[in-house]
Amino acid sequence: MRHLSTLEGWRQALDSPPSPPTPLAVGEYRALGHAEREDYDEARLDHLARLQVVATSIVRHTVTCGRRLVLLNRHAISARRGLIVSGPAGTGKTIAITQLGRSHELLDRARHPGQANRIPVVYVTVPPAATARMIAAEFARFLGLPVRGRSNMTDIIEAVVGVCTDTRTGLVLVDELHNISLTTRHGAEVADTLKYFSERIPATFIYAGIDIEHSNLLSGTRGAQIAGRFTLIPTRPFPCNDEWKGLVATMEETLLLHDHQPGTLPGLAQFLHAHTGGMIGALSHAVRGAAIDAILTGNEKITKNSILAIPLDHTAQTTGRPKTRTATK
Ligand SMILES: Nc1ncnc2c1ncn2[C@@H]1O[C@H](COP(=O)(O)OP(=O)(O)O)[C@@H](O)[C@H]1O
Ligand SMILES: [Mg+2]
Repeated sequence: MRHLSTLEGWRQALDSPPSPPTPLAVGEYRALGHAEREDYDEARLDHLARLQVVATSIVRHTVTCGRRLVLLNRHAISARRGLIVSGPAGTGKTIAITQLGRSHELLDRARHPGQANRIPVVYVTVPPAATARMIAAEFARFLGLPVRGRSNMTDIIEAVVGVCTDTRTGLVLVDELHNISLTTRHGAEVADTLKYFSERIPATFIYAGIDIEHSNLLSGTRGAQIAGRFTLIPTRPFPCNDEWKGLVATMEETLLLHDHQPGTLPGLAQFLHAHTGGMIGALSHAVRGAAIDAILTGNEKITKNSILAIPLDHTAQTTGRPKTRTATK
């Protein structure tokens, strides 16, 4: 996995992935020599191992709202507004905010070509049981600033604010926000540190975390300040609708299998929905897993049974199977 929470990893992730191998016709594939076939299969497996991000409604909504806020905040000297993307685990929050970051950074690069001294986007995650110092250190780590055992909080914070200001950081993404609990003293200090950063760094702040709207992060005096300035984007498992079917069809298009009949997977959309509980991550895992099996076994197609052969994560398994609606809790 790439470490998005370092500048190097973040920049690497922005570079477009290598293009997938050109699909061969069945005849061409059969005619390949042993070594050539191995290379071609390896390229297909590598392609399947990479996540192909789909522009789902959550992604599009987050990118649109985020871009709008960046523009609205451009001349604000105080009380900049932000976004909170909140919902159950595995509903695409991280993908949505990192896609917003990607679009912001690519736009920035296009506007300021050849300026390597810009850091338009900062991405940090809140560590479990975080202290204020730990969150400040996360910012420093992303920026590649040294944090020594002896550096005090004020030094770290001033260095981070200085670098972000100098490098024109316009967007700060803070993920795993649910790791803050305002009922502990440490949690309250972390929230205060984030608030301080958001006042000092002239950027739009985007938060993501599990069920933030039901947590104590938005209540009380501290919470009310956030609640008053942040727009909430809720995420949830997909209902079994046209978008879900489109998602399945989009995933099918990326498979590169030789005996797979296009349209088979959209035909299984309802089954796939019940099987995965409408979780996009579980769908992607099941479909790509079955495609990898299809290449390795030489079957070259995906069926209901080959999907069932891929074990899913615990959440998808428990929310999926019996056709309950509890998945949307
Ligand atoms: N837009 C998308 N396109 C393709 N796959 C996605 C998309 N959003 C989510 N996924 C899949 O779902 C998984 C979980 O998404 P993630 O953003 O990490 O969820 P969360 O942050 O809400 O826990 C990802 O690893 C990926 O496989
Ligand atoms: Mg996440």
